Amino acid sequence: KPQLLSVAQFDRGSLEDLFHVADVMQPIARRQKVTRILEGAVLGSLFFEASTRTRVSFGAAFCRLGGTVCDTTGFTFSSMAKGESIYDTSRVMSGYVDALVVRHPEQGSVAEFARATNIPVINAGDGPGEHPSQAILDLYTIQREFSRMGKLVDGTHVAMVGDLKYGRTVHSLIRLLSLYRGLKFTLVAPPSLEMPAYLVELVARNGHVIEQTSSLAQGLRGADVVYATRVQKERFANGETLEGYTPEFQVCKALVDAACKPDTILMHPLPRDGRPGANDLSVDLNHDPRLAIFRQTDNGIPVRMALFAVLMGVEQQVARSMRDAGW
Ligand code: CP
Repeated sequence: KPQLLSVAQFDRGSLEDLFHVADVMQPIARRQKVTRILEGAVLGSLFFEASTRTRVSFGAAFCRLGGTVCDTTGFTFSSMAKGESIYDTSRVMSGYVDALVVRHPEQGSVAEFARATNIPVINAGDGPGEHPSQAILDLYTIQREFSRMGKLVDGTHVAMVGDLKYGRTVHSLIRLLSLYRGLKFTLVAPPSLEMPAYLVELVARNGHVIEQTSSLAQGLRGADVVYATRVQKERFANGETLEGYTPEFQVCKALVDAACKPDTILMHPLPRDGRPGANDLSVDLNHDPRLAIFRQTDNGIPVRMALFAVLMGVEQQVARSMRDAGW
């Protein structure tokens, strides 16, 4: 079935193919070229959790390909508030639209949507499970940033910081990065929010070096990529505390200047908690050229356009029309 549920669907070859399609999409994403390749197609956008980036960029990506979007946000505006099942919702929606993008608070729920239909279904975040399109655009961003510097993903040092237990983006990203060779991961989290053991084991099994520390200064030292995450308090279910998650955990300018390199890239899936004292990526880095977060969000459009093109089988047509137009 044409669906994106997990990054486990990818190998390096299929990722590179997808990134090539995303490169083809760049002029359309940047509004330098117009395509109507999905004219007449309708996207169902079902978000049962809050979202700005994922919801709007998936919608914009579909529109930039010529399609239109019907959406519903939150349980209140869906008949699931009246007890309708995922199965019924998915069956009904597949009679109305040509593809579904779904965010839902329960892990595995988007796969349940996908099982009930034959139209393309994309996981836009299933609870603490996965957020595959975010991780794909993160990796695409790393590759683009590195290619400017003449660096490769193989052999790189990635520091992941923050809520590594509930941060579904890091769960997807660490799996994708582990497809490459000879990486070093430094995982920086308070004891109650560490990366799930099965992912640590998977990465080690793939031959990468993986270290865990609760010292941010130590964890950032020498990193090529710093990937910070927000604490997902809304998912705390097992009495987790933030004990030990002191203000020194904030990724701020002073710390980055002391511990990182001039070409380290600073990433975050966003949203970040920008309030003073929050243990997140500090706003005092906003004018630091190493901060890649807005280049990262911009890459959400071409990557999500590429995902639609591949899942809906029009990627060759887009590439041909771009070639014919001299791009
Ligand atoms: N990165 C991300 O998923 O952001 P939103 O929650 O705003 O979609």
